[in-house]
Amino acid sequence: MAKGIQSVKGMNDILPQDTPLWLYLEDTVRRVFEAYGYQQIRLPVLEQTALFQRSIGEATDIVEKEMYTFEDRGGDSLTLRPEGTAGTVRAGMQHGLFHNQIQRLWYMGPMFRRERPQKGRYRQFFQVGVECFGMPGPDIDAELILMTRRLWKALGLEGLTLQLNTLGTAETRVRYREDLIRYFSAHKDALDEDSKRRLHKNPLRILDSKNPAMSALISEAPTFDAYLDDDSTRHFQGLCEILDQAGVAYEVNPRLVRGLDYYSKTVFEWITDQLGAQGTVCGGGRFDGLIEHFGGRPTPAIGFAMGLDRLVELLKDSGKDVLSAPDAYLIAMGDKATKKALVLAEQLRDQLPFLRLVTNCGDGSYKAQFRRADKSGARYAIILGEEELEKVSVSIKDLRDGQQERVAQDEIAAWLKQRLEY
Ligand code: HAM
Repeated sequence: MAKGIQSVKGMNDILPQDTPLWLYLEDTVRRVFEAYGYQQIRLPVLEQTALFQRSIGEATDIVEKEMYTFEDRGGDSLTLRPEGTAGTVRAGMQHGLFHNQIQRLWYMGPMFRRERPQKGRYRQFFQVGVECFGMPGPDIDAELILMTRRLWKALGLEGLTLQLNTLGTAETRVRYREDLIRYFSAHKDALDEDSKRRLHKNPLRILDSKNPAMSALISEAPTFDAYLDDDSTRHFQGLCEILDQAGVAYEVNPRLVRGLDYYSKTVFEWITDQLGAQGTVCGGGRFDGLIEHFGGRPTPAIGFAMGLDRLVELLKDSGKDVLSAPDAYLIAMGDKATKKALVLAEQLRDQLPFLRLVTNCGDGSYKAQFRRADKSGARYAIILGEEELEKVSVSIKDLRDGQQERVAQDEIAAWLKQRLEY
């Protein structure tokens, strides 16, 4: 369909040749999170626009220019979720999940941001996120980092590095913010357009600029350490101690500020240099003030989200081969055999519930059916021809070495079981 209706720019189809890798990634994530006692939460894709404006922040790129916002037929302003933290907080407050409780939650699904699409950056992308509530100490910060490290290991991903920073409390940031505005205002001529725009709205984001022309100015800017309150300093030291003991390598990056307004204290990112400009595969941090900001009781909270599109890209580059081919392909020749084949396939599935068996629906010569069997990647072709039908048997051909033997129909399951390690 060269000219017909196409998908929306930046919103990709994930085709059958790629889904095995996605399923493998999603299964591995689920297994690792469950092993740490995390429970899944499922949230709507649409929320009230105000939810994101008030949590992510009015002066952020996301809220300023990337949200898919529209008025629905009832006149409400709704937004396709650009991330999952705000929705998790909304759901937790609405259903009373936070009061005097500890929660370890995770979610998975599509998010929407109208960014400029490029490799690793899409307008519909997939995140897996984790949000924890009710735990104030650095132990849970460390657990999240250890859990992500375990996930990289389970996926066989190497070369990811961890960057850490602490943003202190909202109060300490006020003074820092003022001094940053003063510093950058004194060098206004050296600021690029983005930074000029951010100067009074969100000066901390200037520190995050990727523009090389800004790097000298940024490196001379006041750093946050001098402003940090004692409690945040202790918290950060506590986290670093646990990570040191657990042998997690990290780099403290005082310029790491993250692009959303709700953070306080710990922030972190896992980064790779293998994906070009979009190298952050996972980012998160504490948002101790967010629930109170929405009118709830003060509730410590921390979480992260990772970009599945980027992780799939990394898995592909690492040459990860995920088994998706069927075990066997059932070939049937002639009308009678075709009918019997489906019954036989059902019997085999009863006997071997995990058998990956494809039947040849749609007729075809032996040659055509063998071609389909080969194309499916199946290990074995099970052949039911007229002669086999008469002898209540099948022929089984090993499609790798071409060996073929006759097997009685009531022995197929045992024959396969022995060879397929079920
Ligand atoms: P974020 O840094 O905006 O944080 O996104 C987290 C991850 O989602 C990024 O590191 C990246 O891997 C992926 N990602 C973001 N935008 C795109 C895009 N346009 N295309 C592909 N992948 C993308 C959050 O969303 C926070 N809610 C994380 C968090 C949870 N903090 C606390 N709890």
